[in-house]
Amino acid sequence: MTDLRTADLPAIRRSDFAPDFRWGCSTSSYQIEGAVQEDGRGESIWDRFCSEPGHIRDGSSGAVACDHYHRWPQDLDLAREVGVNAYRFSIAWPRIFAEGRGSRPNAKGLDFYSRLVDGMLERGLQPWATLYHWDLPQALQERGGWRERDTVAAFVEYADAVTRHLGDRVRHWITHNEPWCTAFLGHHEGNHAPGVKDFRTALQVCHHLLLSHGVALPVIRANVPDAEVGITLSLHPISAATGQAADRAAAVRHDGLRNRWFLDPLHGRGYPADTWALLGGQVPVVREGDLDAIAAPTDFLGVNYYFPEVVADALGAGPLAARVVDVPGVERTAFGWEVSPQGMVTLLERVQREWKPPAIYLTENGSTFDDVVEPDGSIHDTQRRSYLARHIAAARDAMAADVPLKGYFAWSLLDNFEWAEGYLRRFGLTYVDYATQARTLKASGHWYAQFLKS
Ligand code: FCB
Repeated sequence: MTDLRTADLPAIRRSDFAPDFRWGCSTSSYQIEGAVQEDGRGESIWDRFCSEPGHIRDGSSGAVACDHYHRWPQDLDLAREVGVNAYRFSIAWPRIFAEGRGSRPNAKGLDFYSRLVDGMLERGLQPWATLYHWDLPQALQERGGWRERDTVAAFVEYADAVTRHLGDRVRHWITHNEPWCTAFLGHHEGNHAPGVKDFRTALQVCHHLLLSHGVALPVIRANVPDAEVGITLSLHPISAATGQAADRAAAVRHDGLRNRWFLDPLHGRGYPADTWALLGGQVPVVREGDLDAIAAPTDFLGVNYYFPEVVADALGAGPLAARVVDVPGVERTAFGWEVSPQGMVTLLERVQREWKPPAIYLTENGSTFDDVVEPDGSIHDTQRRSYLARHIAAARDAMAADVPLKGYFAWSLLDNFEWAEGYLRRFGLTYVDYATQARTLKASGHWYAQFLKS
């Protein structure tokens, strides 16, 4: 058993948080489900992207992943064992509409999620459903994907079908997971599906993602009594590499696209004028009424927090002329992401001060380290345990500073398919042996369980 007072861990107890605080863990469909050809599921952009050589570092795909599609009862048992009271999952759009849209949703796909949700409720896990965690039906991509405005309508139809079916049992809905990643990793850097490398396309995609969120909101509310609906953003506290004016200005420019480009329009301020001006001829086509739709009121903001960014002035580095730099000597995860619980407090305080969302949930937070399986089968992931404990302590500190934080979801319940990194990165509280599909709770998972009992 892990001792909650282990020297490297902060002194925190569950009772430091409100009794109705949500404690959860997060997963996503393509990263865990596998069963990509079962029960009428269509192809997704990630199936296609993985099948093209050179995209995934270990040449793998989500075809099997954690085989969660078949092993979900065991996985929900694990979540219950850890003692969380909420479970965030995502729905695979191609299981619901194999071709992206259609007059009838696929009953077998809906049934899978229906059973999954019932399984959560039976185990005392409040279901938190994300509609889009990156697995667009390939058929829609063939018609232009998120670059095309028509995909907004397709998303709303999909959201309608899913919320009609599950809305009697699922009250908590997240429209999108990290639209920054979909737009810029998927369409500018090209290292995520669909692998497009065009900045202007990324900006148009980004607008359509936000628009689809806004247009879907009233539809979800109409289908779900007492719905609580939000969107999850990947946000970063940003600072300048030096105190020099040029670096400070670069940090502001970088922040414009990384954070404010999402937070401003979602909170009724339109796109930030300074960033819009810098983008010049690449700005997206925005039609009349779009910004009003995007600003539809939400019930909460989902924040995925992983790391802070330090920015320097960099002439020639795109229209923003800013570059993220590595600060030497800081603590990092195996991914190279800086570990900064204080950064999370800074970020949440800023979000609260500048945009005042009605409630905030940390919908993802976690770390990857190179796990070692001991001869007795146990995994002493002390760094991940420390990361988790220190970020939960940071959540408490943010609340003490009046941030309306209502829940914390650890990423992730299971090791899983980490996108372009394949299976090389493990983020789980549970170790997955991909050869046997055996699951073993790591020391971090044991610590979380003990914390939740405290
Ligand atoms: C986030 C993603 C999630 C996972 C973590 C490590 O950006 O939302 O699916 O890959 O990073």
